[in-house]
Amino acid sequence: MNICVVGSGYVGLVTGACLADFGMNVVGVDKDHAKVEALSRGKVPIYEPGLDTLVQKNMAEGRLRFTTNLAPAIEEAAAIFIAVGTPPKSDGSADLTFIREVATSIAQHLNGYKIVITKSTVPIGTGRMIEQIIREGAGSKHKFAVVSNPEFLREGSAIEDFMHPDRVVIGTRDERAAQMMRNVYSPLAAADVPIIVTDVETAELIKYASNGFLATKISFINEVAQICEAWGADVEVVSKGMGLDNRIGPKFLQAGPGFGGSCFPKDTRAAAQIAHDSGLRFRIIEAVLEVNEVTQKRMIEKVGQALGGFAGKTIGFLGLSFKPNTDDIRESPALPIVQALVDGGATVRAFDPEAMTACKPLFPTLVYTKDAYEAAEGTDAVVIATEWNQFRKLDLDRLRKLVREPLVVDLRNLYEPAAMAAEGFHYVSIGRPEGIPEARPRAVAGPARAAGGRS
Ligand code: UGA
Repeated sequence: MNICVVGSGYVGLVTGACLADFGMNVVGVDKDHAKVEALSRGKVPIYEPGLDTLVQKNMAEGRLRFTTNLAPAIEEAAAIFIAVGTPPKSDGSADLTFIREVATSIAQHLNGYKIVITKSTVPIGTGRMIEQIIREGAGSKHKFAVVSNPEFLREGSAIEDFMHPDRVVIGTRDERAAQMMRNVYSPLAAADVPIIVTDVETAELIKYASNGFLATKISFINEVAQICEAWGADVEVVSKGMGLDNRIGPKFLQAGPGFGGSCFPKDTRAAAQIAHDSGLRFRIIEAVLEVNEVTQKRMIEKVGQALGGFAGKTIGFLGLSFKPNTDDIRESPALPIVQALVDGGATVRAFDPEAMTACKPLFPTLVYTKDAYEAAEGTDAVVIATEWNQFRKLDLDRLRKLVREPLVVDLRNLYEPAAMAAEGFHYVSIGRPEGIPEARPRAVAGPARAAGGRS
């Protein structure tokens, strides 16, 4: 089947490369000449484990190519996947300008039955809007069907998520389109992946409800962490104890500095806006957003309290991306903390394995270092903001010799408080009692008891 994927951003590239790997004949279209030129040489402009290899392999085998020329790509395709950006507008709703543009082009170049599939996360009603644009633009000469096929990929494990999903959601009212989509995903159906075929609006809502629910789990455990801090309880054990209940499950119950990235913040705001536009309120999601904001502020207070203020301090800052295995810093919870440190007069020595290039224009005054140890040199505290694997097993002896003050503020709970105390560190983490070395008097303030919490 000839497939056209419009938009060679994160979702478009992963979708195109994986569908090519399923044996489809895929053309990826993007307006950005430089990007298409680089992709045509096998150069993938984003960091995603395994993506460059998959792109290069499928290009070499003749199933994947890239172009800026949308018209012939539409004309040759039986299925057109729309994977363009839907950036948030100031009210939190998704900006559908690019989707409208693509739908208009499809209308102009419709030359036979085609299915038009939305992969981008789009609000309920977008499928209907696309259908209307194409029908008005193309008239009744050619038939087409609109399909919602939301993606559930996580950055950093997108290929794995595409190839081994928990489910595939196909939303369409057109039986021929549903059949074509089943055909596209036949390698997954053969591997017993559940395929849900439903209407367009239900499929659109599944995506928002899923991201909203996952964000809810995170905000929930972050509030529990705050209560743990007030009582000297351990959120890691609470999370484990909850997660062993099959009805709850262990995933997305990791307390931390609040969720970030290009999806959860945007999609939760959009979900609240969708409810609002429907004359309703999504109260739980509103609370999830509020908790996330409070959590991020609480992190700044936690670091400030542990340090006894920022002015004149030097901080080793480990992790800038919103999560590991990506260079993406969009809405990274690390950034407001870095901003507060800089504004408060601290010197920040930062290290991130992939995200420093993206951070440099935003924070030109940071000292960017070659690794975690260089970042820690002569510091009053080391702050861990992202759970990169290489920060999990630091040589603590080496670290302690490098720092000025053996204070570690770990916003990802990578270490055991008692073990860190035994290594001579004053260790502050999330929702757990502090680790305080016996030999050292308590040099800095105690737990951020209810600091930044809503009263
Ligand atoms: C998320 C969803 O997990 C994907 O299923 C979805 O397809 C994607 O959004 C999307 O809509 O495109 P992603 O944003 O890549 O994927 O990252 P996640 O791994 O879900 O993490 C999101 C944020 O939540 C990160 O800041 C992470 O640190 C935080 N998080 C996650 C926690 O704080 N605790 C957890 O237990 C899990």
